Amino acid sequence: MDDYKSRGTVMSLLSRSPEETCAFGEYLGSMLFPGSVVGLVGELGAGKTCCIKGIVRGVNGTSYHDVTSPTFAIIHEYSGKIPVVHVDAYRIGSNSELEAIGFDEYLEVGNVVVVEWADRILNALPEQYLMIAFDVFNEYERRIVCRANGEPYRAVIEQLSEHYCGMCEC
Ligand SMILES: Nc1ncnc2c1ncn2[C@@H]1O[C@H](COP(=O)(O)OP(=O)(O)OP(=O)(O)O)[C@@H](O)[C@H]1O
Ligand SMILES: [Mg+2]
Repeated sequence: MDDYKSRGTVMSLLSRSPEETCAFGEYLGSMLFPGSVVGLVGELGAGKTCCIKGIVRGVNGTSYHDVTSPTFAIIHEYSGKIPVVHVDAYRIGSNSELEAIGFDEYLEVGNVVVVEWADRILNALPEQYLMIAFDVFNEYERRIVCRANGEPYRAVIEQLSEHYCGMCEC
């Protein structure tokens, strides 16, 4: 099976509220570095944007109130010491559309790049990335599964596992 589910080092945890998902994102964001790539997958309303709100805060320690799915704009940029680039791949139909928005350049210049619906553009992701999958259990409970592809992300997963060891299901 050649998809993101077949690869990587895995840890998972249970979120019981949007606040917990945001706090998870913030902690994760604090560990990211220039050039990081994080994919997020999960159905509509699973919590991808909620998590990204936390990531954006965690990367630079600054809150942005306007973190929303850039479904129509496709890309939002949040400035800071390490700029965060938020891509929504929901409506991206081809690699040429990705080229048109300059996706490769965003990957190259020291941003943190977060991609909602990353499973739709798997072949455009770099070799190393962190994938976060959301399973919706009920109105408030989400299983969050993190998969690391590449050494820097394995280190991130290890730190997440330690931090969340009380909540971790693995
Ligand atoms: N544990 C939870 N974690 C995250 N969101 C939760 C949780 N429980 C309930 N929610 C609710 O689920 C919704 C998640 O919305 P969000 O915009 O983050 O989803 P999304 O995956 O980005 O969806 P879309 O694909 O439409 O962009 C929010 O309304 C939030 O309040
Ligand atoms: Mg969203």
